Amino acid sequence: MDQKEIKEMVGKAAVEALVRSGMKLGLGTGSTAIPAVRHIGSLMQQGKLKNILAVPTSFQTSIECEKWGIPLYTLNSKDIGGELDLTIDGADEVDPQNYCVKGGGGALLVEKIVAYASRAYCIVVDEGKLVNNLGLKFPVPIEVIAEARIPVTRSLEKLGAEATLREALRKAGPVITEHGHLLLDILFKDPVDPKKLEAELNRIPGVVENGFFTGPSGRELRPQVFVGRSDGK
Ligand code: A5P
Repeated sequence: MDQKEIKEMVGKAAVEALVRSGMKLGLGTGSTAIPAVRHIGSLMQQGKLKNILAVPTSFQTSIECEKWGIPLYTLNSKDIGGELDLTIDGADEVDPQNYCVKGGGGALLVEKIVAYASRAYCIVVDEGKLVNNLGLKFPVPIEVIAEARIPVTRSLEKLGAEATLREALRKAGPVITEHGHLLLDILFKDPVDPKKLEAELNRIPGVVENGFFTGPSGRELRPQVFVGRSDGK
């Protein structure tokens, strides 16, 4: 199986196992979450899933939902009331405690808001995303207010991280997030405590959100993780 087939398989498997008619769903971003969104759209078109209310985590997800006719809401919509039954999303890294790093696609801010507003959380990944320690191989994104770029970079260095401003691919200059901020991608040399760092990073003035997903204060976020493997199992 190639990467694309693995992502499709794992996205579909999660939807089949967890999504039921009438659910309020958070829908994730990225190349593994989107096949799950498409499968939900396809089941709705076949009449096998009904009355789905979806909250997207990015423009990418909204556009995909619009293509499939999946009704879109926000967490603030009256019918959603700030709480979701389930969110399905991808991740960049998952550790043995099922803590994650997310935001490789730049959508970490809304992804985290949606994840932390969900009663159940599911992550779909291929086996290459499983690591022993987060933040050593795949950079952890930090969404920052533009004016705070250098002071935040200095604070991150003091925490032992090396920070790189994320550059846009087909535009001159940096990536601007969907909420108008910059992204600093950070890597650590030695293993870190993701739970502690998630809270600590957000205390730096100018940091909007960071890509560690371990749960809001006082609550653990332990997603059900669906892993797609190259042998198709
Ligand atoms: C988007 O900002 C991310 O959090 C994605 O969910 C994550 O980067 C995984 O994306 P892929 O499934 O495309 O690897």
